Amino acid sequence: MKVTVVGAGAVGATCADNIARRELCEELVLLDIKEGFAEGKAMDMMQTAPLLKFDTRITGTTNDYKKTAGSNVVVITSGIPRKPGMTREELIGINAGIVKNVTDNILQHSPDAIVVIISNPMDTMTYLALKSSKLPKNRIIGMGGILDSSRFKFYLSQAMKCSPQDLQAVVIGGHGDTTMIPLTRLATYHGTPVSKYLDPESLKKVAADTMVGGATLTGLLGTSAWYAPGAAGADLVEAIVRDEKRLAPCCVSLEGEYGQKDICLGVPVVIGKKGWEKIVDYDLDDNEKALFAKSADAVRNMNGVLTSLAV
Ligand code: 2OP
Repeated sequence: MKVTVVGAGAVGATCADNIARRELCEELVLLDIKEGFAEGKAMDMMQTAPLLKFDTRITGTTNDYKKTAGSNVVVITSGIPRKPGMTREELIGINAGIVKNVTDNILQHSPDAIVVIISNPMDTMTYLALKSSKLPKNRIIGMGGILDSSRFKFYLSQAMKCSPQDLQAVVIGGHGDTTMIPLTRLATYHGTPVSKYLDPESLKKVAADTMVGGATLTGLLGTSAWYAPGAAGADLVEAIVRDEKRLAPCCVSLEGEYGQKDICLGVPVVIGKKGWEKIVDYDLDDNEKALFAKSADAVRNMNGVLTSLAV
């Protein structure tokens, strides 16, 4: 198994680090445009192999896509991260050109790869990668819902004073501060609705904190977060390379499912070695359906910007 991570910045490097620690592949390539940067990160990580006891071989390259040839999975993290006060959407002008270029290069050398998009604004970058590559829809997956759901579990666990591992909680919709939808109605503590443990006000606060989870960290760190985004990216890679058939919220192409088409948006999907294999219908109530439609409108508006950028 061979995996490439494009972009050796904080998110890409953390994702690669998690992939190596979990030995998700024999070969892991880290690629970056900054001279020597990916090589340095790869070497630093390889020097942890005797300590962390993994056998994944990590190599770095400065923009040489030949080294990525034959990858089974490619994770794209390239682009600029947001600064405090910025929305993910404000990155579109710069990141669209980068993501299109990276996707073209990657597919020249790994025509059969499953492509995972982490670059922001993620829903629009996933749509762009799908449209520009013309790949079968199942091979393009945007990673946002796994991260947002992890943050949802974090905030729930803090409010409930329980282990996040005992919670089931999913975020669907867009990966944006106002477009994501933490499904509080369906969140459970070992099968029991969390509403049994938290009053409506506390649940509302958990949902609100989840939605600005990334922005809160950007405010604290001065740039966007990397530990959780990197780990969430590796989690998705794991579900693919191990053909787990795991149910996870991911950004995928909708063709009528959840009442939407010609858009990539976060919904629960089954993940395996072919990419996303099927969309699962959560039977949303009217309020959740309305939120999903509103989220889709906002993401569709953002996708419209791609036309004016002519990428
Ligand atoms: C986040 O939410 C980077 O979009 C990513 O932290």
